[in-house]
Amino acid sequence: MDAFSLPQRVLHWLTVVLVLFNLLLPDGMNTWHRSMVRNGMVTPEQVSGANIHAYVGIAILILALLRLGMRYIQGVPASPPAEPAIFKVAAMAAHFALYGLLIALPLTGIAAYYFGYGGAGDLHADVLKAILWALIALHVLGALVHQFYWKTNVLRRMTIG
Ligand code: HEM
Ligand code: HEM
Repeated sequence: MDAFSLPQRVLHWLTVVLVLFNLLLPDGMNTWHRSMVRNGMVTPEQVSGANIHAYVGIAILILALLRLGMRYIQGVPASPPAEPAIFKVAAMAAHFALYGLLIALPLTGIAAYYFGYGGAGDLHADVLKAILWALIALHVLGALVHQFYWKTNVLRRMTIG
């Protein structure tokens, strides 16, 4: 296997768009949350705004599970030989953690939004969100180092294949 399959690549980039949407534009959900905390009353518009965040997040969860299934069936390309062993391990750990967060963020969000667990909401909005941002930064840095320092085909195999 030289590159990720077309469905694997499409789902990676679709996930990127959806995750960035929820990370950068959570205002609808935050407005709903503030009203709930303040007086437990929300308008239909606030519910609609919050639902967009919820549905996008649930789509991310479904796509992550689908990708894990495809990874299991189709496999993934081997690490390039130019990559030092320690970075191979780091990349594997980072991908594992990214998948973990693409599952844990929606689950904690669902627990807070649909079942009213405030603690899950705090975990979601403070801790997991911050870890996801940090991992995305490392992940993008890793991709750039591959492209420009080790000059491997890693970016290519997740884009044009
Ligand atoms: C990977 C998917 C998701 C990401 C990246 C994400 C991201 C975020 C972000 C950035 C915030 C605002 C945090 C802040 O103001 O600092 C937030 C808040 C929130 N999200 Fe999500 N979210 C995701 C999925 C979901 C899902 C599926 C639901 C519910 C069905 C949900 C429910 C909530 C709730 C209830 C809050 C307010 C929690 C609070 O402030 O205590 N999220 N989310
Ligand atoms: C929301 C942001 C992102 C998330 C959640 C994310 C998540 C992931 C995950 C989970 C994998 C592992 C795929 C697998 O082995 O099954 C992966 C691979 C990859 N990602 Fe991302 N990614 C994000 C953004 C980006 C960006 C912006 C770039 C480009 C600069 C990028 C480039 C890559 C590349 C090149 C691979 C393949 C690595 C390899 O061949 O081993 N990702 N990504």
